[in-house]
Amino acid sequence: MKISNDENTLKAGDRGPALMEDFHFIEKQMNFDQERIPERVVQARGFGAHGEFELYKSMKQYTKACFYKNQGQRHPYLFVRFSKLQGNKGSSDTTLGPRGFSTKFYTAEGSYDLVALSFPVFILNDAFKLADAIHALNPEPHNDIPQASAAHDNFWDFVANNQASVHFIMWTMSDRPAPRSWRMMEGDSINTFQFVNKNGKAIFVRFHWKPDLGVHSLLMEKALTIGGNSILCKHFTFNSEN
Ligand code: HEM
Repeated sequence: MKISNDENTLKAGDRGPALMEDFHFIEKQMNFDQERIPERVVQARGFGAHGEFELYKSMKQYTKACFYKNQGQRHPYLFVRFSKLQGNKGSSDTTLGPRGFSTKFYTAEGSYDLVALSFPVFILNDAFKLADAIHALNPEPHNDIPQASAAHDNFWDFVANNQASVHFIMWTMSDRPAPRSWRMMEGDSINTFQFVNKNGKAIFVRFHWKPDLGVHSLLMEKALTIGGNSILCKHFTFNSEN
């Protein structure tokens, strides 16, 4: 029911006290006080883009999905959300770490979702420990530091006790954790998927995203400076071509 007035509290007289019987006022205050907009536990900071999908080569021998059938077919209903694995939604865009992107194809046969990371390997090979890995990566609860960074013992204790994460760590030490732009990073589905064609024949597939602009990364100093690390600005000079 639309209420007639949700801007002025019920009062006794023009300038009188507010009245407890104004339950609309009470309800509005209560809703506001309890309001919490939950943040994603991972990939919290992200950006979206609408786009289109063009099929360069028919995949119909492998899959019966409509948008993989006809070569040259353009599929205009696509949405991608690019995001950073770690860091809260207010963290800076150029912190070092894997990027993710989730692609949603709105097809005549329903929505088709694909997630990818900018690294070809994952931090674990057993999903059971993902929560522990993220808890180890998350900032200290008492001061929310380090934000969007692995610079604390928790994380390295986790790595030391989980050798499966070493390959992922090698990638974090490469130039890949600081992409120059969302359009200049590769993507990998990491997970293996299954295509089934109209004869019911199944094959395993993985998805790789190769950017037309090529892979380009920021130097660490530039990534930190763009991200607002003023202390660093003073110590490093760089020219815009780096
Ligand atoms: C054990 C494995 C994994 C777990 C438990 C996990 C869990 C999650 C959770 C809880 C979210 C937040 C969802 C939300 O609140 O909307 C998320 C987001 C995401 N994950 Fe994972 N994840 C796993 C593996 C992966 C892998 C292997 C990839 C990439 C290949 C990936 C890519 C992403 C992306 C791109 C997002 C952001 C989705 C969006 O933009 O809406 N994750 N994941």
